Amino acid sequence: MDNRPIGVFDSGLGGLTTVKQLMSVMPNEDIVYFGDTGRVPYGNRSRETIIRYTRDDINFLLKHNIKMIIAACGTASSVALPYINDVGVRIIGVLEPACQAAVNRTRNGKIGVIGTAGTIKSDKYAQIISEIDPAAKVYSAACPMFVPIVENGYANTEVARIVARDYLTGLKNEGVDTLILGCTHYPLLEGVISDIMGDGVELISSGREAAESARKLMADEGLLTGSALEGRRQFFVSDSTESFAQLGGLFLGSEIELSVHQTMI
Ligand code: DGL
Repeated sequence: MDNRPIGVFDSGLGGLTTVKQLMSVMPNEDIVYFGDTGRVPYGNRSRETIIRYTRDDINFLLKHNIKMIIAACGTASSVALPYINDVGVRIIGVLEPACQAAVNRTRNGKIGVIGTAGTIKSDKYAQIISEIDPAAKVYSAACPMFVPIVENGYANTEVARIVARDYLTGLKNEGVDTLILGCTHYPLLEGVISDIMGDGVELISSGREAAESARKLMADEGLLTGSALEGRRQFFVSDSTESFAQLGGLFLGSEIELSVHQTMI
């Protein structure tokens, strides 16, 4: 039993989609969230910069007596985590659980992966999938416009549909039957993506899989809280807290009171 909080970080507020899943599978856990809103986006930055920012995010969380860290950011998970050495607590990213789920659920062995430019360039999803199942075929597509489309409120519009058709037609033509949504923002585009890919294609949300996998891991390692109360959630951002109210609600569902702090890192 371990009553310390779980640390979660992301390049910005998109990681709240993972927090939402964590709150659903482990409602009693305390969470400390850090969103690097002053330096978002990470998705189109160089590997060196993403690694440096990710180290800063981790160091911030380590000051909060956390028991483990979840990198909610698809880009940080794929580009930076392979270069981060032991920091004293366990760090899990969003890739492995989604890859395992995709391998388990595909029927024809053709798996699609979408993410930011950095995530797709790293090729990490394809590497992990081929380690789990060398026979699986992976088809990837970078979807850099999806993040601004979501953040500017265009998720359920014709604009999103046109851009998504352009990004996804290649994957659809390859016949993938399983598609990993490898970025924090993509769950908000699930409807549009599913319309284009068709009913036969199963969408896998990396945040949802990561939350479930974190719960299992914590249960196995005796890291679950002993508290029966609803968990306390603290949110920190590196830019002004104003946009948190609007965007935070979008990603998290606005049903809870948020306590948000601005911080320097
Ligand atoms: N959080 C990022 C990810 O999941 C998307 C936003 C960004 O590019 O920083 O890859």
